Amino acid sequence: MNEPKQRLQLEDLTFEVLLTEEQIQARIRELGEIISRDYEGKVPILVGVLNGAFLFLADLIRTLSIDCEVDFIKISSYGDARVSSGEITMIKDFSADLRGRDIIVVEDIVDSGLSVQYLKRRINSMRPASLKFVSLLIKKGAAKVELDIDYVGFEIENKFVIGYGLDYKQKKRNLKAIYQLVEENS
Ligand code: PRP
Repeated sequence: MNEPKQRLQLEDLTFEVLLTEEQIQARIRELGEIISRDYEGKVPILVGVLNGAFLFLADLIRTLSIDCEVDFIKISSYGDARVSSGEITMIKDFSADLRGRDIIVVEDIVDSGLSVQYLKRRINSMRPASLKFVSLLIKKGAAKVELDIDYVGFEIENKFVIGYGLDYKQKKRNLKAIYQLVEENS
């Protein structure tokens, strides 16, 4: 019989562990190996999408065997809401010059796909040598646009998740595991 999953109560919401720290770190090591192989001899710029991706980016670059540079941007579509407003706002733009460089955008989660779509257009207009996306999580069946994510950590159900960078009202990003909302009557 499976061990009962560790639970977390936040206000009137119950969450249970979806991915443990060990599962997350093991998958990141695998992604790091694949990316290191694919970018052998190159020095990509890994662009973390704040805030959610800061932990994933920090852990991912430490698994790479190649040289890389790092940059961050901050966009927002959700605010404190659980459902995307559909409107993307640029809060902090790129610092690095992306022209002619190999760019890997690092996302914590792809949900509607609108953030990725927005970033793809914007980065391509800066004429990089190449552009790829890595996301730790991707929600099954949630994309509102045609998506092509090059490196995916885990495909998950279309449920609200928190922890490991992902927030609950801006808190709980520091949880080491990822927790999923337990829907009532499930
Ligand atoms: C989250 C997440 C992605 C985006 C994915 O960011 O970090 O960037 O939403 O959603 P989408 O595929 O529907 O566009 P959010 O705006 O919640 O900001 P945060 O990372 O600071 O929490």
